[in-house]
Amino acid sequence: MQAEGAQIFDLTAGEPDFPPPPAAEAAGIAAIEQGKGRYTAAAGMMPLRKAVAAQLERNWGLPYRPQEVVITNGAKIAIAQALLALVDPGDEVLIPIPCWTSYPEMVKLAAGVAVEVPCLSNHLPDLAALEAARTERTVAILLNTPSNPTGVVYPEACLRELGEWALRHGIRIISDEIYAALTYGEAKHVSPLAILPELRKTSVWIGGMSKTYAMTGWRMGFLAAAPEVAKAVATVQSQLSGSPNAISQLASLAAIEQADEDVARMDLAFASRAKLISEKLSAMPGIRCELPQGAFYAWLDVSAFFGKQDPATKRTVTSGDDLADILLEADRVASIGGSAFGDSRCLRFSFATGEEVLTEAMKRLAARLAALQSSPG
Ligand SMILES: Cc1ncc(COP(=O)(O)O)c(C=O)c1O
Repeated sequence: MQAEGAQIFDLTAGEPDFPPPPAAEAAGIAAIEQGKGRYTAAAGMMPLRKAVAAQLERNWGLPYRPQEVVITNGAKIAIAQALLALVDPGDEVLIPIPCWTSYPEMVKLAAGVAVEVPCLSNHLPDLAALEAARTERTVAILLNTPSNPTGVVYPEACLRELGEWALRHGIRIISDEIYAALTYGEAKHVSPLAILPELRKTSVWIGGMSKTYAMTGWRMGFLAAAPEVAKAVATVQSQLSGSPNAISQLASLAAIEQADEDVARMDLAFASRAKLISEKLSAMPGIRCELPQGAFYAWLDVSAFFGKQDPATKRTVTSGDDLADILLEADRVASIGGSAFGDSRCLRFSFATGEEVLTEAMKRLAARLAALQSSPG
């Protein structure tokens, strides 16, 4: 549609709409000019491993040693490689849903079985349901806080309960904390691996540059784990993706050391958009939307509109995906239907876009929902 000249109000982005920190760009350019684009150690260059370890301790109370940090070509491959290292064929990995699209597929690629367990209505993991889904073959659980797609930040009490349960049953936590720096209002990120240090013996922490530093295309992620786990992941990496991008490693080092202010500015902008989008959404009849606590997504249940026929497109809404299609076709508003995240009653809006686009998209959504509400069905 864009290629045909249509203006699309795009709320699908999984990446910040800000530029990377100037310090990162300058360090990347200098690295190229100085001919630093060569292979590094498979687990990444030591200065960056040290900087990530120091940041983990400083920001999240996670005292990992540099040798326990593996630098990867993005958080995505960090998770995939951790699964390849830790999951044997037929092993089961629990995944609270809704979840980030790639988790179940990555478990399958590692020849594991992805066991999807619906969250509670407040989008927090349902411990009773997880316990019911646990079997002899359960080896790990994939957690993601702050959450993509729900924007929920798991409270400490919830993580403690989950962590104690995981320890009791020898279940590893693969803790995807890629949105840790982006929290709003009262919400504060806390790592389960900081609450229960015992978990660090078997579990894996995941982070990266994409979201915090707006460096998605630089492909830089991190993993931290006990030495034998970190070593196993580094071995997988050395055979699979190879040493991480050297230029991006040097740029990331500069960002971690110099870009705290850029990150704080971006966090403030996201906080203001989180407020804006949740105020607009809560004013729409039939929609319940909490203030997103972290990441940059609003997740809404649109099942109140199921069975309604849209007067413009003549389509009947039977899922969040239908509504996403209608919004795109009739209103030029792009969102992502919830089935991509394991819950087809919902829709995900990203607020990684300017306030003008957000405001116009919300105006169009409100008008569409009003039209649906007054239609038959
Ligand atoms: C929850 C979650 N984890 C991991 C990633 C992967 O990030 P990266 O760009 O570092 O591979 C994403 C990206 O969308 C994400 O949303």
